[in-house]
Amino acid sequence: MNTSSLRARKYPVGWRVVHWLVAVMVLTLIPVGLWMTARGEANVWGALTNALYSSHKAIGFTVLLLMLMRIAMKIRLGTPSYPDTMPRRLAQAATGLHHLLYLLLVLAPLSGWAGVTAYPALVTLGGYDLPAMPFVPQNRELAEQLFGVHGALAITLAVLIVGHIGAAVRHMLRKDGIVRRML
Ligand code: HEM
Repeated sequence: MNTSSLRARKYPVGWRVVHWLVAVMVLTLIPVGLWMTARGEANVWGALTNALYSSHKAIGFTVLLLMLMRIAMKIRLGTPSYPDTMPRRLAQAATGLHHLLYLLLVLAPLSGWAGVTAYPALVTLGGYDLPAMPFVPQNRELAEQLFGVHGALAITLAVLIVGHIGAAVRHMLRKDGIVRRML
């Protein structure tokens, strides 16, 4: 492990870029996911619904790849330590919330990918197919269950993101320099 990176106050630049890319993508995926599902349930099919599903799958799959990259970066570089002035309990709570966000940012896209593999509905932007998830059989009932899990994980993720943004705003108001590490 690179200990000089561990001591650095700021996150490495690649990490910051991936953080903001994932943030923009997830903040797009949640409303698009809810919108396209509502259109599907109302039986409103057509070019717009198809475009929403295709983009959702393509962006969601990209988030999965970016998260795998981000986890590799975290393992290799470690996380910049919090300033000594930050209360220990708060630092522990922040670390716990970040680990939960990482977990959900992997499980949510994995469950979506598993669902479209089982359905199967792998077609995405430009008519290209996503690769099928290995070891997932084609089975409509299984696909519906996986979509149920996917929706629940995505909503839990949305709630945690609200908490994460709330914590960031609190740090900004306290001007403790924590948010600047990711800018
Ligand atoms: C971080 C990544 C992702 C987020 C935050 C996300 C979010 C969501 C949300 C909020 C919904 C609506 C759930 C509902 O109304 O019950 C949804 C539905 C859906 N997502 Fe995702 N999604 C992600 C990744 C993916 C991926 C990678 C795929 C497939 C490759 C995918 C495929 C789908 C499909 C097919 C639906 C509709 C399910 C249904 O008809 O019940 N999602 N997603």
